[in-house]
Amino acid sequence: MYDSGGSFAVRYGSYALVTGASEGIGRAFVVELAKKGLDLILVARREAVLKQLAEEIQTHHGVQCQVLSADLAQQEEVERVMAFSARFDVGLVVCNAGFGTAGNFLDNDLSNEMSMLSVNCEALTRMTHAYGAKFKERGRGAIILLSSIIATQGVPRSAHYSATKAYVQALGEALYEEWRGSGVDLLIVAPGPVETGFSKRSKMQFGLTTTPDVVAIDSINALGRQRLVHPGWLAKVMSLGLSITPRSIRVKVMGMVMKEMTKRLPS
Ligand SMILES: NC(=O)c1ccc[n+]([C@@H]2O[C@H](COP(=O)([O-])OP(=O)(O)OC[C@H]3O[C@@H](n4cnc5c(N)ncnc54)[C@H](OP(=O)(O)O)[C@@H]3O)[C@@H](O)[C@H]2O)c1
Repeated sequence: MYDSGGSFAVRYGSYALVTGASEGIGRAFVVELAKKGLDLILVARREAVLKQLAEEIQTHHGVQCQVLSADLAQQEEVERVMAFSARFDVGLVVCNAGFGTAGNFLDNDLSNEMSMLSVNCEALTRMTHAYGAKFKERGRGAIILLSSIIATQGVPRSAHYSATKAYVQALGEALYEEWRGSGVDLLIVAPGPVETGFSKRSKMQFGLTTTPDVVAIDSINALGRQRLVHPGWLAKVMSLGLSITPRSIRVKVMGMVMKEMTKRLPS
């Protein structure tokens, strides 16, 4: 089913823009989209890392690669990304940049929580609004939004991170319906635990994990075919388990899981 040809460029436009491209899932999206022949705009804060990835991609896949260092927690930086990318034929946007926080909500630093809200929700909303409008006007394009398996209930000890992903999930579900038949594809990606820099940054300890390339490949295969993907078998099993459990019980179960995953943090 996985198509290594250039049909994505014809379907959407020659460039894909990936936020959070320097590591983890975003980096895997960059590699897999380059294999499909798409030119790329890589966005994240670490410019040197992006430049090295761009070089690798250009050498191995012969596609064009633009690099833009930007802190998506800052509104003006998001505007700068939009202005820069307007110079290229962008047809696919992967809103992937994000991070999580863990521990008791009241113990966490509020300014970091507000940065997370800006990156996970505000930047994603601005980009989805701007690119959604462009794509709708020309009748083609696609947007991929990174949600999470934890988006469908409150998660004690990751209360605000799970809330940011619930926001993304609800926004994506509604936009999928609003854009039906417009030629604009929308895909919500809801992974389970993935082996990336995420767990270290969020101070969570993961057990079983999926690899970032599985997330990218399953997502690319699902784009234009479905509304939501749980990439890899682990996320599918976890989402099935959660879906048959009443919401109030899910919250308690997720609280127990998070307690285990954050046992090095103050209880
Ligand atoms: N890993 C998981 O288990 C998991 C599960 C479900 C959902 N997700 C979601 O998947 C997405 C990618 O996470 P990941 O696991 O790949 O994490 P990661 O390895 O930590 O990568 C996060 C990426 O986001 C970028 N980023 C973070 N803050 C940024 C900011 N202020 N401005 C610009 N870029 C920023 C980072 O680049 P710089 O540091 O260079 O800026 C990096 O490229 C996130 O939205 C996350 O919530 C992850």
